[in-house]
Amino acid sequence: MNPASFAIGLIGCGQFGRFLAQAAMGTGRIGLKAVCDQDQQRAAHLATELDAEACDGVSALCARPDIEAVLIATPPAHHAAHAIAALQAGKHVFLEKPMALSEADCTTINHACAESGRQLMVGHVLRWFEPYRAIAAAYHAGLLGRALHGSFWRLEHDFLKIAPWKGQRAGSGGYLFEVAAHELDWLRSVFGEVQFIAAGIDKRQPSTHQLEDRVALQLGFADGFCVHYLGGTGFPANSHGFCLRFEHATIESDAAFDPARVRITEHGPHPITLAFSAIDPYRAELDAWLDCLATQQTMPVTGEDAAATVALIASTYRHAGW
Ligand SMILES: NC(=O)c1ccc[n+]([C@@H]2O[C@H](COP(=O)([O-])OP(=O)(O)OC[C@H]3O[C@@H](n4cnc5c(N)ncnc54)[C@H](O)[C@@H]3O)[C@@H](O)[C@H]2O)c1
Repeated sequence: MNPASFAIGLIGCGQFGRFLAQAAMGTGRIGLKAVCDQDQQRAAHLATELDAEACDGVSALCARPDIEAVLIATPPAHHAAHAIAALQAGKHVFLEKPMALSEADCTTINHACAESGRQLMVGHVLRWFEPYRAIAAAYHAGLLGRALHGSFWRLEHDFLKIAPWKGQRAGSGGYLFEVAAHELDWLRSVFGEVQFIAAGIDKRQPSTHQLEDRVALQLGFADGFCVHYLGGTGFPANSHGFCLRFEHATIESDAAFDPARVRITEHGPHPITLAFSAIDPYRAELDAWLDCLATQQTMPVTGEDAAATVALIASTYRHAGW
């Protein structure tokens, strides 16, 4: 471990908690001291695998004086309680997306953060994923000109095989909180706050879960930029892509996370190339968190920033009458 390393605890030892802890260990900048989960067997198993201690619950983990910061990867319905417990115990927090399931919970977390004097980052990792990161960088550098129109689709077929709580609105908040939160956060991080929302949500197919079959959104941003987003769990096959039309280029992909599938059609006088990074996005995200912990700088995704994504989702559901 290098001298700038941090002693970390993990709350939530499920699929993503395990992945996140391993990614954090992969930075070489943390020591994983302890883990906990409501499923104590799961915690014990992961503790053995990652050479950490299993704690008897969230309070026991947060009470440990040898832990400076915690990673939280529990279902979103528990994010507020767990983040507040960790902050009140004096720990820095890396909280998985979505920050919480209501604007009120986000406000309470942000108050707890301000009172604790500790730092909070929310894991909106799409900001570090290619090709999204490179498109944002090119847009902000002025290479693409004005943003005109975006079309995004994230159609899920077998999504609910992953974890039962994701299918319950009380556990995940629904499709927009659990899945579309990625794209909605990225959009507002690049193009600013949404000024207009039209939303249609459909749930007709018989299913054992409560998530939307289809969500069709129209979002208006400043300067006339408009986005259509289609998502949901009721599609016969998975499909995930986008088409972004700018003044100087159209950028499209039918495999949203694969830079090799990005097609650029130039409309302006200058050639447009996107500079893709080969760094793993989770590694880049966690390095950014650890850099800010080490230097006390403002986190790249603060609680206030992530709360605005939650507010957008909540507002979108209200517009859809859902
Ligand atoms: N950033 C990403 O790419 C990404 C990907 C997947 C999941 N996630 C997020 O990670 C989080 C966890 O998702 P997951 O897929 O790992 O789910 P999961 O069901 O696999 O894991 C959740 C874990 O939390 C535990 N848990 C539930 N309630 C608890 C409580 N009250 N106290 C302690 N432990 C409790 C469960 O026992 C389980 O082990 C969610 O917020 C999800 O949105 C993010």
